[in-house]
Amino acid sequence: MLNLKIVLLGSGSVGKSAITIQYVNGEFVDQYDPTIEDIYRKAIEMGNDHFMLEIMDTAGTETFLSMRDLYIRNGQGFILVYSITAKSTFYELEAMKDQVCRVKEAPVSKIPMIVLGNKCDLEPNRQVSSKDAESLCKKWGDVEFIETSAKTKLNISQAFEQLVKQIRTK
Ligand code: GTP
Ligand code: MG
Repeated sequence: MLNLKIVLLGSGSVGKSAITIQYVNGEFVDQYDPTIEDIYRKAIEMGNDHFMLEIMDTAGTETFLSMRDLYIRNGQGFILVYSITAKSTFYELEAMKDQVCRVKEAPVSKIPMIVLGNKCDLEPNRQVSSKDAESLCKKWGDVEFIETSAKTKLNISQAFEQLVKQIRTK
């Protein structure tokens, strides 16, 4: 079985842990407990292939940022998460995308990466339109983009599967 290392990046409180726990354990964590670092494992089957995903759930809050280069160096695929309810978290993604390219010494087109606009169940609180996010991801170099909800499970497994496909082809 092939091991694939996936890293979640994004500002504090956007839902990186909730997305990971929804995907791995099938449950929604309602309370907010800032992450230092956590690793999750999940065995998946795609087509006739079996993979062991090693999912690195990182810290969004400033205190723990120094570890990021190391996670990126070890990662093979990257999930960049913002919250559709907080514009600042959307603007903060670009620096993370740039950091991934710098550490990997590669253009974004060569790096398996997907951007998630999370918390899309909170439509009344939306601050980032899907159109704006789509055009930003296109501008970066056709980075895949999808809106998710860790609460309703919308597009959660799809996001991980799309990334695995990219890891195998890029
Ligand atoms: P850090 O570990 O500090 O970087 O935060 P994080 O990105 O891991 O955020 P976390 O998953 O802890 O979620 C923060 C808060 O948002 C929690 O209270 C979650 O329950 C909530 N949350 C996460 N995803 C969703 C979602 O899709 N919808 C709703 N309504 N709430 C969510
Ligand atoms: Mg977390």
